[in-house]
Formats: sequence, structure tokens, C-alpha cells
Amino acid sequence: MSDVQTGSSLESVSATTLAKTATDAFTDALPKAELHLHIEGSITPERLMKLADANKVTLPYDSEADLLAAYDFKDLQSFLDLYYLGASVLQTEEDFYAMTRDYLEVCRAQKILHTEIGFDPQAHTDRGIDFDVVMSGITQAMRDARSEWGQSSLLLMNLLRHLPVESALNTIDQAERYGDAIIAVGLDSAELPFPPEPFAPAFERARALGWHSVAHAGEEGPPAYIWSALNTLKVDRIDHGVRSDEDPELIAHLKEHQVPLTVCPLSNVRLRVIDHMRDHNILRMLDDGVMVTANSDDPTYFGGFLNENYSALSTDLGMTNQQAIQLAHNSFQASFLDAAQKQVFANRLDAFVAQHLAE
Ligand code: ADE
Ligand code: ZN
Repeated sequence: MSDVQTGSSLESVSATTLAKTATDAFTDALPKAELHLHIEGSITPERLMKLADANKVTLPYDSEADLLAAYDFKDLQSFLDLYYLGASVLQTEEDFYAMTRDYLEVCRAQKILHTEIGFDPQAHTDRGIDFDVVMSGITQAMRDARSEWGQSSLLLMNLLRHLPVESALNTIDQAERYGDAIIAVGLDSAELPFPPEPFAPAFERARALGWHSVAHAGEEGPPAYIWSALNTLKVDRIDHGVRSDEDPELIAHLKEHQVPLTVCPLSNVRLRVIDHMRDHNILRMLDDGVMVTANSDDPTYFGGFLNENYSALSTDLGMTNQQAIQLAHNSFQASFLDAAQKQVFANRLDAFVAQHLAE
């Protein structure tokens, strides 16, 4: 495994301690960032049912228990069908605010010092909700969390790949006036059979506006989609990318250019991308020197927020303290924060390690 690049604090930690399986007490308190999170996939079942009731949205579920029973997915599409239905309960600025605030409170509780929140505007504008209603609710919650407890967050606008590129371009037109309030565009929704290439004009436009970019690729789709996201869309990060290891040349490229993969372990198991957590390749790729990070994707649908993902890695893959620290370090490194802000968070991570693991 490549050396952990977290500064001098690790010198005070013995090799034996670093090689031990990380405890939940350690990873729960570990300062970390989350880089792959769909805000619509963080809505709690309680809030979903409450908003359905308040907004008179008819759902095929009579109770929260009924709804929860439907959280049993056979693939990405079966999840997306429920995800878009769930998103339909969001109607007002207050609804978007409340959902975003709920997630940011989780960040506070889980030591997620920085988060990059993805949202799907087309899932809302396509059913008649104003783009500005969505933006106002989400960004107000982000501002409040920053001023109330110093929560760091950035906003990432995902484009739906099952819709035509014209819809993506139209969405960018609506978003343009928000400028810096958006840090990046992404590409999500059904990966198969929607390769990245047709979205090149949208990503070119986003780049011209000064936005970074990411794309879901190699979740259900083949390594060719990851190459295409990198070479055609010119993205800075790959969301998921767990199928990268089917292509040694791709792995070599990811390592050489330190392209971040925002991997989501619980999501991969829930969507049957990977049969069992003990088969997950995240730590193998990490040890091989790929810039991987751990994330929750759609936490309320997949059985856990970020700390539950770290916990599953310890339980089922024996993640060591060193690997957990490397994942946390990568999470800040792979973020869209500027260099000075990354350093501030890396220093906090170092200080935490020195305090908690030094003998
Ligand atoms: N939208 C929300 N979650 C997603 C996922 N895991 N893959 C693709 N699109 C998504
Ligand atoms: Zn995702």
C-alpha cells in the first residue's frame, strides 16, 4: 500500500496499531468527507411519508413499514423507480430545505467535516417544480449549517442520462445564473444503455462555465464507459468505478493520474453490483494505489450513512486503521475544495490520529 500521506502524526503510531482492524469508535469519530451523496436519496422514510401526506401525493404505500418493505432492489433500475417516486413528494422550498437539513445534521453527528451534495434538478423540473425552488431550499440549508456549526459543503448538479442531452443543456441554462453556488456537474441515473458520449456538449458547456465535472460510470456499465467519461466528458472524478478492475490498463491510468473513484460499498451490495461485502474490491484498489474514497450514495435507501459504510468495511473486509485513515485522507484530497482548505482538513485528520492512536 502507498504510504499514508497525512503528515508527521503517523510516526507516533506503531505499525501494530495501524495494522489492527479499525473499530467503529475510531471510524465514527474519524474526520472525513463525503463526495458521492444524492440528496434525494437521503430523504428519511418518516419525512417522505409526512411530505406525501402534506402535499397530497398518492403513494402505493399505506404506512412507513409498507414503504420500507419496498427497499429491496434487484438492480439499479428497480431502485431508481422508487427513488423518483420518493422524490415526487418534494414540492416546496421548505421541503427541499428540510431534507437537506436532515442530511447535514447527520454530517455533524458523523464527523463528515465536508460534503459534496449531488442533486437531480430534472427529477423536479420535469414534474413542474421550479428550478429556483429546488436551489433555494437546498442552498439555504447549506448556508445555515455553515453558519450554525461550521459545516463545509459544496453543491454538485447531476444530469439525468436517460433524458436527451437537450434536457441537460436546458438545465445548464437554468443553472448558469447560480455560478459559484454550483461546483460541478455530474451524470447519473440508469447507466445501461446510456453511455456518456452523447453528453459531451453539456460537459463542454459546464467546463466553459468554470464548473468541475464527475460522472457515474462502471457501476453497472463496463470499463469502456469509464474510459469514455474520462476521455470524452473529461471528468475530474468517477462516481462508483468499481468495474475498473476488469481492465488493467484502466487501473494503471487511474493510478498514474490519481483519478478519484467515489465508491459506495453498501449501495453496491444493495443494488447487487457486488454479491457480498466480503467480495468488495474497494480495499484491494486502495492498497494498489488507486485514489478511492468511501461514500453512501443514497443512504436512507441502502441501509446506512457514511459511518455505516466504514463500519461494514471493518466488519466484512477487516479494514485496518491505516486503510481507514487513507480513505479519510483521500476524501479530502479528492474533494473540490481549494488547496488551502484541503490542508486545514488534512491537519485536523492528523491531529485526530495522533490523539487517538499514538501510544
Ligand atoms: N441516482 C441516485 N442514485 C444513483 C446511483 N446509485 N446510480 C445512478 N444514478 C443514481
Ligand atoms: Zn450515485
